[in-house]
Amino acid sequence: MNSESYILRSAHTEELQRLSEFSRIYDPGTHRFLREIGIRPDWQCLEAGAGTGTIAAWLASFVGIGGSVLATDTKPALLENAAKDHEFTAIYHDLTQDSLAENAYDLVHCRAVLEHLDSADQAFHSLAGATNAGGWLVIESHDLSPSSIDLVCRHTRSDLAPTVSKFLELGAQAMSRFGATPEYGSKLLHNFLDAGFIELTLETHAYPFAGGAESLFSLSLSQVEEALLGSGAMTQSEYEEALAVFNNPDSEFLTPLLVSVRGRAPTRS
Ligand SMILES: C[S@@+](CC[C@H](N)C(=O)[O-])C[C@H]1O[C@@H](n2cnc3c(N)ncnc32)[C@H](O)[C@@H]1O
Repeated sequence: MNSESYILRSAHTEELQRLSEFSRIYDPGTHRFLREIGIRPDWQCLEAGAGTGTIAAWLASFVGIGGSVLATDTKPALLENAAKDHEFTAIYHDLTQDSLAENAYDLVHCRAVLEHLDSADQAFHSLAGATNAGGWLVIESHDLSPSSIDLVCRHTRSDLAPTVSKFLELGAQAMSRFGATPEYGSKLLHNFLDAGFIELTLETHAYPFAGGAESLFSLSLSQVEEALLGSGAMTQSEYEEALAVFNNPDSEFLTPLLVSVRGRAPTRS
């Protein structure tokens, strides 16, 4: 194995581990939000930016062989494990570059993806256009605006809040530098309304999780160590202090605010 493939393999393993932890924390809320729609066994579903595919797998168990689930991602290798044991199709698809079939799905779901894209509104419209008239579009995106970070940190233990606040602020700044929209969650409802969606529901959640070496913040912080230290955003000792806080299994954290919106697509003429 050459060093390049070793690095790539190790980055893949770390991303799998981080996204598995991500799913463990966020999936129960998403299951409930989707279940309330009343998913039917003959539905055609799209799970966009599917990550490790836990939601695609869950949808596949709902729709059975009468329906179908297409899971897309720019890193479809992340989906391999889930696709082995569940009836869904996994493909490479870039939401910022590739088109989607129009009016093709009874349910379109996309979680924690649009806020990371440099053309989130365009991707939103592509997902909205892929939803059948009368079908459901469900988008969940974080809101990492300063006021939302502040809100989450006000509900975080006071000895932990400064570390969380700095970490989330640095994350939001890095997203902005790449042209992404860290506060995208706060735009979601407006986009649904502007696109004519009806029967709208909006929920916001900050999900609790325990600290630990394998916890979401520890895994996320470790992944960006080089970028943080290289850019001077954190000193080595600040990085180590933050990691020690996130690694502590006695600490309780909240995820950044996740905004979940669902609505039905209008009839198009
Ligand atoms: C934070 S993860 C969320 C994964 C999954 N949706 C979940 O909630 O568990 C973001 C996902 O978006 C994917 N992604 C990033 N850019 C994308 C793009 N342009 N088109 C499609 N997927 C993309 C990443 O590969 C990653 O799997």
